[in-house]
Amino acid sequence: MNEDQRLQSTQITATPAKPEKDYGQYFQSVYTPPSLKDAKKRGKEEVAYFDDFKIDPRFADMGKGRKFYIRTYGCQMNEHDTEVIAGILMQLGYELTSAVDDANVILLNTCAIRENAENKVFGELGHLKPLKLENPDVLIGVCGCMSQEESVVNKILKTYDQVDMIFGTHNIHRLPEILNEAYMSKEMVIDVWSKEGDVIENLPKVRKGKIKAWVNIMYGCDKFCTYCIVPYTRGKERSRRPADIIQEVRHLAAQGYKEVTLLGQNVNAYGKDFTDMTYGLGELMDELRMIDIPRIRFTTSHPRDFDDHLIEVLAKGGNLVDHIHLPVQSGSTSMLKIMARKYSREHYVELVRKIREAIPTVSLTTDIIVGFPNETEEQFEETLSLFKEIGYEMAFTYIYSPREGTPAAKMEDNVPMEVKKDRLQRLNAVVNEYAAAAMKAYEGQIVEVLVEGESKKNPDVLSGYTAKNKLVNFVGPKAIVGKLVKVKIITTKTWSLNGELIEIVSDQEVGV
Ligand code: SAH
Ligand code: SF4
Ligand code: F3S
Repeated sequence: MNEDQRLQSTQITATPAKPEKDYGQYFQSVYTPPSLKDAKKRGKEEVAYFDDFKIDPRFADMGKGRKFYIRTYGCQMNEHDTEVIAGILMQLGYELTSAVDDANVILLNTCAIRENAENKVFGELGHLKPLKLENPDVLIGVCGCMSQEESVVNKILKTYDQVDMIFGTHNIHRLPEILNEAYMSKEMVIDVWSKEGDVIENLPKVRKGKIKAWVNIMYGCDKFCTYCIVPYTRGKERSRRPADIIQEVRHLAAQGYKEVTLLGQNVNAYGKDFTDMTYGLGELMDELRMIDIPRIRFTTSHPRDFDDHLIEVLAKGGNLVDHIHLPVQSGSTSMLKIMARKYSREHYVELVRKIREAIPTVSLTTDIIVGFPNETEEQFEETLSLFKEIGYEMAFTYIYSPREGTPAAKMEDNVPMEVKKDRLQRLNAVVNEYAAAAMKAYEGQIVEVLVEGESKKNPDVLSGYTAKNKLVNFVGPKAIVGKLVKVKIITTKTWSLNGELIEIVSDQEVGV
């Protein structure tokens, strides 16, 4: 199926938004800029599945003798997209390099979640300018979530002429065409679809590691939390078919991977878009737990869609880890309402009660935003009290960052930045205290560690993670990298454990 048919079959066409100036005159064939307005639409079209990706023979030698470098920002989803981009580039004959000045193609796979994430990318583009001036044949590309934003694309057009290509999160499979266009034309190539999204199954991937792997189970997000840009940059919620996921995880197990993380912005909505069957994350986990792989985790959960069947399946244990990252964002029901999180503090607390009852050993971690527009001291204190009530073992904490195009960005905000910073500090003090206490409880305990590699500072020190995702450092032989081992914890810090190697667990003893 070609590109035109693909668009027709999904009945979705991207309507290019007009940038402030009419840049169209500079572009020949590929000029599809983003539109946040279109990205917001959620139609009734069914998700279209494709598995017909192939490299056009015209491009077969495109990468011969050339190297690529990719810098990735943002979440695991982006890291995984980078593995797909690398897969496509390697099929085109490019070689990977870890030195930016050795590369013929430089890609920045960007994140738009907060302003500072975007600033880092603009800073990096500035650093790349001299390199481009020195070697004009180098191609510089911007992809990922920032490229889905009109304001970013317009800013790059205006001020970053060192950029040769911008392509969106829905356009990764078009990379060969985009590169071809960039080699042929001297103008910036822009290819960003602001559509709802399909699922493309057979894209090549080059995975970064051989121990842990990431597997998409769904794409996009329909939650539209009022502060968040992700539903605009990643399109609508759409699930991969169970058979494709199961096959991918089986294949990873056969290749010797020890841990798989299932990825989605709201994994608990998995399967809700299937029109032909009732099948959710609970059903999927129940099938995946039969696969002979020591650890399976998922991220990220949304408290609203976390159902009883999933809890029941997770309670079966085995290779399903007893760690759940369950972002709460705020402990105040009134604030959660303004954030459009679609649950109350009480609902969240009840969900945690059910999870703990079913999985008594569970470790819970979370995400919290402070300083949302007009957040009161009382509302903030409710967040502190919820943190303590749940007793989280770790949290990612953020100061609210306005994102253009989201409803919250239009809200007036009476909270000064100093107050927001102060709240973040107060929250972090509690987070650190609880994290350190959770670690302290491991003193003298024996934990199972998946060994990931040697410490950068000392090659005799190895490090790895427990099923609950605690970082463990210990002395051991390099030969055990990639294996599961037992470590006795001797001392603890806020974010890591130090221990002594006790034994190497054989592959037969772990998992199901
Ligand atoms: N889909 C996931 C998280 C995606 S983004 C979920 O819903 O849990 C990761 C975290 O970034 C969010 O949980 C939130 O805490 C934070 N975040 C998202 N948008 C933000 C914004 N505009 N300002 C500050 N933090 C934000
Ligand atoms: Fe963003 Fe909310 Fe979707 Fe998470 S659930 S990606 S916070 S809109
Ligand atoms: Fe960032 Fe996009 Fe992930 S905004 S957090 S890279 S989905």
